[in-house]
Amino acid sequence: MSPTTRSLMSRPVSRRAVLGGAAAAAAASTLNAPFVLAQPARLKVGLMLPYSGTFAALGNNITDAMTLAINEKGGKLGGREVQYVRVDDESEPSKGAQNTNKLVVGEKVDILVGTVHSGVAMAMVQVVREEGTTLLIPNAGAGAATGALCAANIFRTSFSNWQPSFPMAKVMYDLGHRNVVTMTWKYAAGDEAIGGFKDGFTALGGKIVKDIAVPFPDVEFQAHLTEIASLKPDAVFVFFAGGGAVKFVKDYDAAGLRKTIPLYGSGFLTDGVLKAQGPAAEGLLTTLHYVEDLPNPVNRKFSADFKKATTRDVDVYAVQGYDTGQLLVQALDAVKGDVRAKSALHAAMRNAKIISPRGEWTFSKAQNPVQDIYLRKVVNGENKYQSVAHKGLADPATGCKLA
Ligand code: PHB
Repeated sequence: MSPTTRSLMSRPVSRRAVLGGAAAAAAASTLNAPFVLAQPARLKVGLMLPYSGTFAALGNNITDAMTLAINEKGGKLGGREVQYVRVDDESEPSKGAQNTNKLVVGEKVDILVGTVHSGVAMAMVQVVREEGTTLLIPNAGAGAATGALCAANIFRTSFSNWQPSFPMAKVMYDLGHRNVVTMTWKYAAGDEAIGGFKDGFTALGGKIVKDIAVPFPDVEFQAHLTEIASLKPDAVFVFFAGGGAVKFVKDYDAAGLRKTIPLYGSGFLTDGVLKAQGPAAEGLLTTLHYVEDLPNPVNRKFSADFKKATTRDVDVYAVQGYDTGQLLVQALDAVKGDVRAKSALHAAMRNAKIISPRGEWTFSKAQNPVQDIYLRKVVNGENKYQSVAHKGLADPATGCKLA
């Protein structure tokens, strides 16, 4: 018996009040069993996220913060009980289509949430463009998802890969850096994050000395660090995240480069990983759409509630999960749980205003957040707010044809 059924049964319900006369008569002969109100079917939310591998912690924070947002509002969506169906995508693009189909075709989920890795997200985008399932992307920044392959049923609650990197160009230029080496994992997120930085930096007149890329999710950095030492650039800009970010920051420090060739990155370099990086991360400047010490009340409450619920500290991934939950609550309330009313559901999502721990944000026409990007600095093992590096930044959304 479901919890809903049980709670309804404990209330005295008049049969006549809820059944028409004919139906009551027809039902009367079989009414030896206790009577229950017909409930709307549970709303199925598919969660396709990494629960293993280098991005496992990211997937867990997204999941736990999303359910926290929904549970804060009573645990239902649009008045319907929620059934979560999870798939571990392992951040493995070659299994992306198969895993997506498990949820979309096999489980027939009403809403699909996922994922972290851009390559896996692109497989999800391809499937939902065919099937029409509503997809909420709570991390992966692949530009095409809200660019050339944007669609009315695809929303991203996080960022595009271009977004957090672009503002770092001006920060570094203003600090006097002119010759920069970039380094990343070789895949969509890395290429696009470095692309965002380069767009800004070369437009200002800066020069890229060399782009270095290692296969995802390799962490063999030593030979490249030796090369960086010999190239002697003014600074290095990188994209790494999760377990790879821990290893990179520690190796950079151990190679003796931190004090001689300053290291910068998008904030994924230091988000959710500072404890593991220890003193090697001290002083790093990064840009991102969140920083833990933002003084708004939503952030303070969320940080405390998330810690209480999980015993873990918040990070950008938790915030993105929380906002995904908030969006689901708002939009499904607007359509009273009727996920089949797709154009009304998508309109409610498009027009949502999310009061987020990161600050308020809205969707662009391409259905990607328009948001502030913050400059942060690691001080005593914590990311600390420095300034707004870019106010209300929207992704260029190249190729998106949504009106
Ligand atoms: C991505 O693959 O899009 C990605 C993964 C981890 C991050 C950011 C972006 O922290």
